Amino acid sequence: MRNPESVQIPQSPRWEPHLWPPFTQITSSSPPKRAISGKGALLALESHPPLIDAISSWWVTLHGHAHPYIAKEIANQAHTLEQVIFANFTHPQAELLATRLSEKTGLQRLFFSDDGSTAVEVALKIACQWWKNRNEPRHQLIAFEGAYHGDTFGAMALGERNLFNAPFEKMLFPVKRVPWPSTWWGDLDVEKKERLALEKLAEYLETPTAAVIMEPLIQGAGGMAMVREKFLQKVENLIREAKTLLIADEVLTGFGRTGNLFASKKAGISPDLMALSKGLTGGFLPMGVTMASEKIFKGFLGEDPKSTFWHGHSFTANPLGCAAANASLDLLDQEPQLFEEFESRHFPHLKSLSNHKRVKNPRLIGTIAAFNLDVDGVKGYLNNAGLIVKEEAMKKGVFLRPLGDVIYLLPPLCISDEQLEQCYSAITSGLNCL
Ligand SMILES: Cc1ncc(COP(=O)(O)O)c(C=O)c1O
Repeated sequence: MRNPESVQIPQSPRWEPHLWPPFTQITSSSPPKRAISGKGALLALESHPPLIDAISSWWVTLHGHAHPYIAKEIANQAHTLEQVIFANFTHPQAELLATRLSEKTGLQRLFFSDDGSTAVEVALKIACQWWKNRNEPRHQLIAFEGAYHGDTFGAMALGERNLFNAPFEKMLFPVKRVPWPSTWWGDLDVEKKERLALEKLAEYLETPTAAVIMEPLIQGAGGMAMVREKFLQKVENLIREAKTLLIADEVLTGFGRTGNLFASKKAGISPDLMALSKGLTGGFLPMGVTMASEKIFKGFLGEDPKSTFWHGHSFTANPLGCAAANASLDLLDQEPQLFEEFESRHFPHLKSLSNHKRVKNPRLIGTIAAFNLDVDGVKGYLNNAGLIVKEEAMKKGVFLRPLGDVIYLLPPLCISDEQLEQCYSAITSGLNCL
């Protein structure tokens, strides 16, 4: 093995000497492009033609870049109240957001955090302390194979063990893992896969369990792996029979991505806790929230200081983030058909693409279309074929970020029909290079 200290950082002038980019091996990657501005689905770049942001900049940009209404609402709020400590104060934007999200999710209480990972951490801590507060401490947690819940330690522990968290493996608490019976068009084995998963879940639930966590309907980072609504309903039934808690990680799926405002609603399940982020602020500002049922909230009331949920972040309920989130909800309320009808816009394109010899396991839910590449080589994230498709798509004006051998589109709601067509045509060009 090479001595890491002997590895030379490429001296390309385009690598910023003081930046450390996320999820990037600098030694073997090309330097990032410089983004100058964004408008709708388009990103304007320095020394490069504009690109369609076909993955909503890591799944956050919901209505398009620099949406003028959200920008205006944030600016107004910045001139009014930019930040206030949330332990001693509340403010109108936070109250409004809590009321609206409570009504939309059916979960009465909202706890603020900073991003998807912290929203999951909060859900996890609430679930575990809820049992402790009842004098029934429970330590078993159940998650699904292929899950991704974030990069902080608790969220990482809940996720699938893989390359990304391998350096920390010994420090991650144990989690029971149930197979995720992902499915696609023409999948003949789905019933069998679901049955095996449910059997495993039932077996684990024989041990008292603090909570089961899942990404409802679609695992994102795990390869845009979709499951059927029916399966989730059966999962919920088992959880209710076992009298444990269900945490829905809707960090990706929230705010219309699956064609309903929330994937849980679409699947007909009622989680006890729900983590939200990404599209929460329309993709403008980092913010996470954890929604909790009143039953959970009540478990933290009482005179004993030990029953308090001792958790908080400096920027809890940042008024700018709340203003952005309220503005984003205004837009979703005004035009729900934009997410409700998105699937029918993908459908004809994905259908015709599914005839390509390199396309395997096509699948579609709401605004998200995905398939696997039918190629040789390593399976999963380290397969290089996706990078070839990515490079070719870039030449055709489309930014993709394949998950190894999984190609997907997750565009902002504002993308035009012509731009969507351009995305599929760019993917086809990429597939023809393989
Ligand atoms: C389902 C899910 N949960 C949690 C996270 C973590 O969110 P963040 O990157 O904002 O910490 C992600 C991020 O992709 C996610 O997809």
